[in-house]
Amino acid sequence: MSRLIVVSNRVTPPGPEGASSQGGLAMAMSAALREYSGIWFGWSGQSTPEFTGEISMQSAGGVTVATMDLEEQDIQEYYNGYANGTLWPLFHYRIDLTQYERSFGAGYERVNARFADMLMPLIEPDDLIWVQDYHLIPLGRALRERGAKNAIGFFLHIPWPARELMATLPQHRQLVEAMFHYDVVGFHTDDWKNAFNNYVLHEVGGMQLTDGSVRAFGRTTLPRAFPIGIDAKGFAALKQSDAGIESYTRMTESKAGRKMLLGVDRLDYSKGIDERLLAYERLLNDSPELKRQIFMLQISTATRTALDAYQDIFARLDSISGRINGSMAEMDWIPIRNVHRMHSREELAGIYRAADVGLVTPLRDGMNLVAKEFVAGQDEDDPGVLVLSRFAGAASQMREALIVNPFSQEDVADGIRRALAMPKDERKRRWRALMDGVERDDVVAWRDSFVQALESARDGGRKKRAPRIAATRGEG
Ligand code: ADP
Ligand code: F6P
Repeated sequence: MSRLIVVSNRVTPPGPEGASSQGGLAMAMSAALREYSGIWFGWSGQSTPEFTGEISMQSAGGVTVATMDLEEQDIQEYYNGYANGTLWPLFHYRIDLTQYERSFGAGYERVNARFADMLMPLIEPDDLIWVQDYHLIPLGRALRERGAKNAIGFFLHIPWPARELMATLPQHRQLVEAMFHYDVVGFHTDDWKNAFNNYVLHEVGGMQLTDGSVRAFGRTTLPRAFPIGIDAKGFAALKQSDAGIESYTRMTESKAGRKMLLGVDRLDYSKGIDERLLAYERLLNDSPELKRQIFMLQISTATRTALDAYQDIFARLDSISGRINGSMAEMDWIPIRNVHRMHSREELAGIYRAADVGLVTPLRDGMNLVAKEFVAGQDEDDPGVLVLSRFAGAASQMREALIVNPFSQEDVADGIRRALAMPKDERKRRWRALMDGVERDDVVAWRDSFVQALESARDGGRKKRAPRIAATRGEG
């Protein structure tokens, strides 16, 4: 088995019992790297007055992690700037929030070059290199420029935007050209992969080859969908842990016979949290008989707080939930419990288990692992119902959820009403089908299918297959 070198912006190894971190990538990589020999390399999350080029190596939870600190200016231009001020909003269809600053682009390239400089000495000839997410799109090119001949793959954890949106980025061609230095480029869904192919064929006149790969900029890469999953069995088992049982018991007692609607999100404008609260308000106004029968627990943890857009969404969420509670609460009933703290994986599993309805209603999301965790957290004999946005990548796999349009308050309110009224037989039938999918397409299946694709790229399998005839040629 080849060594696997995973590179991501942030490295969050499995922590001590009870500690946790948020973000789908961290959750998936922690699980994916267990049982695999290799290194997880990235930014420590810490700043240093001047970049030192020092790597700190440690072993955590069976994974070797190698981290480096970044300078304040790097963090500002690369992480807060280009990654989260430019690419994140653009790729989530929010050009109104996208910052098109030249200095951000320069900082992004500079930090990617730093990643490449630091990584090169760690790479051995047979290693497979797997680069993660939008922070590091140019890393493959930077490694090739420094002589790396290894198979290098890239996985995007967020959506790929429509061609027309991509074209608003001043250096869009340069960014997309960087994707062609990878042997394999992975997306969560066919929709995101097709959006990438559409750009390649129609914006830069690339061509699609019969084996599914695409050619442009004088290079070829293989775009493919690899839907990410969770450690389904492991997560399901957490609800039976001591901490899982304790949080389930606490939640069940505090429900006092009411039904609980649950939202768990990183506090991000892409998650549709304020739209969800407004839909809930609409539900309570249109169906006042539900008041006192239900309540919502919204757990949303602050993230990327250096950015105005994140401070705004934080303030908006508190203001909307405060207004709804202020206008509707009674002395022994509060419609919304608005919680900002982090929970351990065990606590979270117990909370999911106690929920009657899971509300996962992002306006746009690469996949959304909370949807899968909610399903794995349920009791088979009396499962809750998942209400899921059609704009989450997860909707393409989780068809037995109640699929809603998060932009329509009425549609989300209808979905909640239907979930609350759903007979037990139907809940069990839907849950079984969802759980089968969550177990089958778990994080290990995701890792293995990507690694296999990378291995066959390395072994030249892809190149030796049928002659590369242009199936489709674009215009550009
Ligand atoms: P994203 O990657 O955009 O944050 P996902 O839904 O794919 O979205 O992944 C979010 C991950 O972060 C999930 O594993 C979820 O359990 C975790 N998470 C989110 N909020 C919290 C919280 N308050 N406490 C603990 N874990 C959290
Ligand atoms: O999964 C999407 C993602 O952006 C990851 O790349 C990232 O690690 C995670 O969400 C959390 O974001 P951040 O590291 O900016 O807190």
